[in-house]
Amino acid sequence: MLRICRSETGLMRRRLVLLLCMLAFGSVAGGNAIDSRVSEMQEPEWRLLLPEDEGRVEVELSCSNCHGLKQLITQRKSEAGWRASVQKMASSYQAPIDREDFPILVSYLSKHFGEGNVIEELPININSCSAAVLKRLPGISTETAEEIIRFRDSNGRFTNVEDLLHVKGIDKGTYRKLKAFITVGESTK
Ligand code: HEC
Repeated sequence: MLRICRSETGLMRRRLVLLLCMLAFGSVAGGNAIDSRVSEMQEPEWRLLLPEDEGRVEVELSCSNCHGLKQLITQRKSEAGWRASVQKMASSYQAPIDREDFPILVSYLSKHFGEGNVIEELPININSCSAAVLKRLPGISTETAEEIIRFRDSNGRFTNVEDLLHVKGIDKGTYRKLKAFITVGESTK
């Protein structure tokens, strides 16, 4: 009985110390600082770079478990290549793919990540990429993509991704959605 009481007070003391540590850490570090660090550490939401089209949902569901969707976005495979890949995912790695989803997966993947895929690298380098690539970013219309190119042509290279906020058509909301996917590359002084 006595032993139980003693071990319980020990447990409570440890809990109290833990609580005090958490409080102290919280007030020193500040909640916002922790939040922003956590969100910077998170993997970008690659699914936002999957073009809206028939089959997108199926790809998201079938292909994100093991290696994430980033794996797909820079690919350039023929239809036969995609058929072989999807087949390999299902038979060698037991990817959870419904038989009846095969055709739709292969058709979506070869349409958007086929030989005509313009995205060659991730993150996207806003200093060297074309308007066609910029258009693939969430919230960027053809017009805004062209504005970005015009801005770059007249002001020189972007030194910071935040410079995009000076471009017509890009507000803070748009910027927040796309900043995880872009870079300004190495500066060449
Ligand atoms: C169960 C886990 C798993 C799932 C789910 C999965 N993959 Fe994979 N995938 C792997 C593994 C493991 C590799 C690396 C080994 C290799 O390259 O064969 C890989 C590699 C790849 C590659 C690079 C190699 C290649 O064949 O070109 C592509 C592309 C790919 N996966 C596409 C997909 C697609 C598309 C889906 C959804 C239909 C998918 N994966 C779902 C496990 C998975």
